[in-house]
Amino acid sequence: MRPLIAGNWKMHGTLREAVVLAEAVRAGAGGLGADLLVCPPFLHVPPVAAAMAGGPVAVGAQDCHAATKGAHTGDTSAPMLCDAGATHVILGHSERRADHGETDAVVRAKVQAALAAGLIPVACVGETEAQRLAGEAEAVVRQQLAESLPDDFGGVVAYEPVWAIGTGRTPTEEDIAAIHATIRATLVARFGPAGQATRILYGGSMKPGNAKAILALPNVDGGLVGGASLVAADFLAIAAAA
Ligand code: G3P
Repeated sequence: MRPLIAGNWKMHGTLREAVVLAEAVRAGAGGLGADLLVCPPFLHVPPVAAAMAGGPVAVGAQDCHAATKGAHTGDTSAPMLCDAGATHVILGHSERRADHGETDAVVRAKVQAALAAGLIPVACVGETEAQRLAGEAEAVVRQQLAESLPDDFGGVVAYEPVWAIGTGRTPTEEDIAAIHATIRATLVARFGPAGQATRILYGGSMKPGNAKAILALPNVDGGLVGGASLVAADFLAIAAAA
């Protein structure tokens, strides 16, 4: 399937820097063999969506609330994100799970809210280093998938081993392929053909130097890129490797 290369800009940059980065990504996005998505911080979604309007690069957010509206100070709803020009939303990122105590049940409710609003959720799963060392990686990921995805899931899954995020370390190619095979089997068992068609992204220290090898692995249908997505040339090089 056509790969998706998604950039998670996390909490970086000024408004101006976000627009400059968006324009640089857009300028280099033509003729690639991959779909592109950039996910700026909430405040930067509208200007980045404006910069990407009519072009090939989709825009997403990094979280949403499970409710459509209400007394939720500081939160942003899925319909608000649509209204601001987003088409995707990253949900259940390990930094949200760690910083905000998001459980699988919370992630599932947010995925449902995103789907109801017409957003494509990018649902994240991944084990901690302790869980990997204990031989629990596959079981953890299976459980996160079971509990974070609703029965009507239609979206993207991202496998991000927590210990590989921002560390420069990645699992071996064999380990990535093994987990992605587990994710594929889990999705197919639950969703049938839709599970076969679901894109499974790898995230965690993906760089231009390792992207080609990782993206060539079976059941790796793209990347969720953090640090390297903040440099347009690096992000585009990863997309070119897909
Ligand atoms: O969501 C992307 C991410 O967590 C990976 O970050 O900086 O390791 O590419 P990084």
